[in-house]
Amino acid sequence: MVEIYETLIQGFSEKGFESVDHWLSTEQLIGLRQSLLSQYKKDDFHTAGIGNKDHLQTVESIRNDEIRWLSKETSNPVEMKFFSQMEGFIQYLNRTCFTAITSFESHYAVYDKGSFYKRHIDRFKHDDRRRFTFVFYLTESWTKQDGGELILYLNNETITVEPLPGRMIFFDSSIPHEVLVANEQRLSLTGWMKVN
Ligand code: OGA
Ligand code: NI
Repeated sequence: MVEIYETLIQGFSEKGFESVDHWLSTEQLIGLRQSLLSQYKKDDFHTAGIGNKDHLQTVESIRNDEIRWLSKETSNPVEMKFFSQMEGFIQYLNRTCFTAITSFESHYAVYDKGSFYKRHIDRFKHDDRRRFTFVFYLTESWTKQDGGELILYLNNETITVEPLPGRMIFFDSSIPHEVLVANEQRLSLTGWMKVN
C-alpha cells in the first residue's frame, strides 16, 4: 500500500488532489458494491442533506443522491477491511505529513439516473474539521454516456474525474467541486478525514 499512499500524497501536495485505480482489490470492489446494493435494496438509505447536524436541510435542487453512513459497529467483513485500510492510510499520513487526522466518517451514495450534486465544498460553515475528502467509485462499469463525472474547480483550471469502477480520488476538502448529472445509476463510497 505504501506505493499507493505515496502516489496520493505526492499528487495532493502538488495539485491538491490525486486519484488511484488499484487501491481496492477486485474482490473488495465487488464486496463493497454488494454490501451497498443489499443495504440499498433493504431501503436503508435516505435522501442526502446539505450542512451538518444542526443545520441539515434536504435541498433536492442542490443534491439528490441517497446515502447510508457506515459505522464500525454495524459493518460486515468487507467494510471492516475498508475501515482498517483507511486507518492505515491515516496513520501513514500523520506519521509522514504531520496531518493530525483524528477520525474519519464515510457513507455509501447512490446517484440514481438524473441525480447530481451541484458545486459545493465539503467543509461546513459551522464546522471546518474536514481536511481530506476521498471517494471510491463502485459502479460495475462506466462509459462517457453514463455521466456523473466529478468536477474539481481549482484556482486556474477545472479537472474532470471519471467515476471508473474501483477508482479512488483523494482531495482537499476546501476545493469546490460538483457531481454532474448521472445518466445511469452511480455508486460510491465517500468519506472525510477530520481533525479535532
Ligand atoms: C460529496 C461529493 C463526490 C463524488 O459527497 O460531497 O462531492 O464524486 N461526492 O461522489
Ligand atoms: Ni462534496
